[in-house]
Amino acid sequence: MKALISAGPTREKLDIVRFFSNRSSGKMGYALAAAAAESGWEVVLVSGPVSLSPPAGVRLIRVESAAEMAKAIQAEAPDADLIIMAAAVADFRPKQCCNHKIKKKPGNLLVELEPTEDILFTLGQNKPEGQLLVGFAAESEDLLVNARAKMRRKNLDWIAANDISRTDRGLASDFNAVTLLSRAGGQFEIPRGDKQQVAGKIIEILNRHIPTACS
Ligand code: CTP
Repeated sequence: MKALISAGPTREKLDIVRFFSNRSSGKMGYALAAAAAESGWEVVLVSGPVSLSPPAGVRLIRVESAAEMAKAIQAEAPDADLIIMAAAVADFRPKQCCNHKIKKKPGNLLVELEPTEDILFTLGQNKPEGQLLVGFAAESEDLLVNARAKMRRKNLDWIAANDISRTDRGLASDFNAVTLLSRAGGQFEIPRGDKQQVAGKIIEILNRHIPTACS
């Protein structure tokens, strides 16, 4: 059984020295990869730039941009039994990226951003029979309503609702707390704990709901 997991931020280049990114540390995705590998999954981890060592027994594919992440994930997705998109993929990238350093000039610098591909949405559109697709919802308001809407819009089986308005958990923290929602109407509260504990519980719940999964 193959699990494909994404982690970390992406970097969207503005020029050869500058980029747009976000505060994701990659810790949640790496902890999920470790927990999945420990419970018997063959794990492929597609990771944006982070300062973490890959968990034992996991095949790591390093990427930088959302476009590179999309390419790596699309190559690995067709035979994956479980996909968890924990990466904080950039929604926009600079429309023009130059291959020199932008020089300082008087006045404002206007940067036009264009949308990146929504990797999870594309996966949902092309989901093979039997593949379990899991997303994360980073929300600062109306957590569960927004997370359920995201699960439907992206054709997911499960979504982990993450309250990013709190500073004691979530993005860039060592701790997290999530509500795991299923398309079938299930709701599981995973209380605040370190990301290894939260990841362990997410994998345990998913394993319990996959008939042929490793136990
Ligand atoms: N995601 C993705 N590709 C993107 C943006 C997001 O695959 N370009 C995935 C994330 O990995 C996550 C899920 O979609 O599993 C939801 O991401 P989130 O940032 O919560 O939502 P968005 O779809 O970006 O919408 P919004 O920012 O408006 O809440």
